[in-house]
Amino acid sequence: MRSQLVHGPGFTSRWDFSHHVVPPLSSSTTYRLDSVKRGARGFSEFGEPISDLGEAPVYIYDRLDEPTRSLLESELASLEGGDDCAAFSSGMGAISAALGSFLCTGDHLIAHPLLYGCTHSLFTNWYPRLGIGVSRVDCNDRAAVREAVKPETRGIYIETPVNPTLELIDIEALRELADEINKDRPEERKLLIVVDNTFATPYGQRPLLLGADMVCHSLTKNLGGFGTEIGGAVICRDEEFRSLLMFRKDFGASLASKSAWAIQVYGLPTLAVRLERQQKSAKKVAKWLEEQDVVSRIHYPGLESFPQKELAKKQMRNPDGYFMPGSMIYFHLDEKKAPPIRFVNYLAKNAYCITLAVSLGHVKTLIEMPGAMTHSAYGPDDPTTQDLGIRLSLGLEEPDDIIEELQAAFEAVSR
Ligand SMILES: Cc1ncc(COP(=O)(O)O)c(C=O)c1O
Repeated sequence: MRSQLVHGPGFTSRWDFSHHVVPPLSSSTTYRLDSVKRGARGFSEFGEPISDLGEAPVYIYDRLDEPTRSLLESELASLEGGDDCAAFSSGMGAISAALGSFLCTGDHLIAHPLLYGCTHSLFTNWYPRLGIGVSRVDCNDRAAVREAVKPETRGIYIETPVNPTLELIDIEALRELADEINKDRPEERKLLIVVDNTFATPYGQRPLLLGADMVCHSLTKNLGGFGTEIGGAVICRDEEFRSLLMFRKDFGASLASKSAWAIQVYGLPTLAVRLERQQKSAKKVAKWLEEQDVVSRIHYPGLESFPQKELAKKQMRNPDGYFMPGSMIYFHLDEKKAPPIRFVNYLAKNAYCITLAVSLGHVKTLIEMPGAMTHSAYGPDDPTTQDLGIRLSLGLEEPDDIIEELQAAFEAVSR
């Protein structure tokens, strides 16, 4: 996979690869059609899976399909082990399209209680208006999930690792359960498992190979990597793809070709190197944090103390099969010894390497307080927003410099 990330496909009908070393960036909203027949063919063939070995597709209009984005899509599909991919203008665009492509009014979805704040908001603020029921159920509790399944249930939605706590959900166990339920269902009512794989990326975990039906990504994070592009992607099988693409055509959140190009040219070729390096730092920083008296709890899948260590080792693997605990850390301070808000504020004002900012999977180390920021959609009365946990996304800086700044902040705010 590491070489594939650098070079992409050796040949694809989406582009002429004999002359370019770097894929060209197309920037044309519309495409010249040499006859009405060709135009009609473009529309009638739209939504069919594109074969990289076949004839070039008939491009019509950017929102439908276009060569630069298409190249990124074929690459992401291959990295995740799926048949197809559709790229969106944001991660939320991808999540709402993945689910929107198969859920109808009257349908029901099961979702893990803790999710990224805007995904929670989608389920609590918008799905009721659309007449889609959502039950929030601990997706590691098989009996509870089985009990929550109704005839109208069409999907199970999870993040693993969960943002921000890094709790893991066992995808293989969910697959077994879905297969049991699907035995008695017709094809069009089968339960689909949708996994947000943003935290791990396909380099660190491939949910489709573990039994998921659809995978979502915020490309804004590690896949883009440099914090310059916002985007999303859904990877799935041919069976789910047509509806997904039609949803994107009509709801309209297609990824801009310029963003697709940057992710393809800068993000993917550096993904493995960045992730391995960020992870090395995360291991060192997590170990150091664990030893600090002011740190009351720490969640990092690479620590021996991580409660789901076995599941982490089973699920989070790089393409060579090595354990990939990732580059995200979530920790709590003993509030009597070091007030967490003062600690984060101190870093915001004084740190050089650590930036207070939302987002993650960036070349720069980012810190935030999810309860107050990214997860505030849970509302003031929810334990999620009352939680004063701190999320750290490791970048490419020297880990000793990060530790030095954390140490300085602990010393400055400790009572
Ligand atoms: C796990 C996860 N999924 C989805 C999203 C949404 O992605 P975007 O901001 O690109 O819409 C985020 C954003 O932080 C996220 O953390």
